[in-house]
Amino acid sequence: MEVIVCENAEKASALSARLVKNKIKKQPDLVLGLATGSTPLQLYKQLVDLIDSENLSVKEITTFNLDEYVGVAATHPGSYQTYMKKNLFEALNLREDQWHIPNGECQDVSQECQHYENLIDAKGPIQLQILGIGRDGHIGFNEPGSSFGSRTRLKTLTEETRQDNALLFSSTEEIPRHVITMGIQTIMDSEEIVLLAFGAQKADAVAAFIEGPVSASVPASILQFHPRVKVFLDPQAAAKLSHLDYYQEVFAQKPSWQMLEFES
Ligand code: GLP
Repeated sequence: MEVIVCENAEKASALSARLVKNKIKKQPDLVLGLATGSTPLQLYKQLVDLIDSENLSVKEITTFNLDEYVGVAATHPGSYQTYMKKNLFEALNLREDQWHIPNGECQDVSQECQHYENLIDAKGPIQLQILGIGRDGHIGFNEPGSSFGSRTRLKTLTEETRQDNALLFSSTEEIPRHVITMGIQTIMDSEEIVLLAFGAQKADAVAAFIEGPVSASVPASILQFHPRVKVFLDPQAAAKLSHLDYYQEVFAQKPSWQMLEFES
């Protein structure tokens, strides 16, 4: 796992946006996995700016989102579909056939989950997956205890995660309890993973998944087994890491050819 600690969240977002942009430039038909939440907002904004300024085509990319709330209308302000349209898809002018998000309004959840897995199989593999992390170490909506072998399925949110996602829902009752999420194995099948975490509220989860034991109690810790993971942090999220100096040294001493993926 490569741990990259930046001066602040904005710089971390800029660096990761350059990485995604360079991937698209190299591979115009990139299959990109996307996350929601407040963490990747700056990354998406900067990615849109970079794509615009370099006049890059995104007509051939395909995207797959990690998750969606069950029983929330796609047009609801709190749905992940609304989030993605507002923060990325509309700005990039993506066609409807280019992006994929689980259908939280489906009649048959198991069928929808299988359908989503089939789509990833048919159009994938996901070549670059963007991730955030929950305070309890969840990725996607794979809460603690999720099987490392899991694939897209229905999950029930913990009360902590419900509260963390309360902002766009008008009452406690309205905050969804159920979601469809890519499984941990689905995420692990991605060829490369970029995880972002910002702020002191993520420091425990960050230390646990990077340096703690691999355990289903900290779902992101499985990433220790993935051969190509980059973790972008701000100093607050990195504050509880024991080997911080080493990670900083590794990045500072990176050979120039390895820095090409970050070039502007
Ligand atoms: C939700 C999303 C995750 C995201 C997490 C953290 O649970 N399903 O993909 O990583 O929230 O959100 P935030 O970035 O707002 O802290």
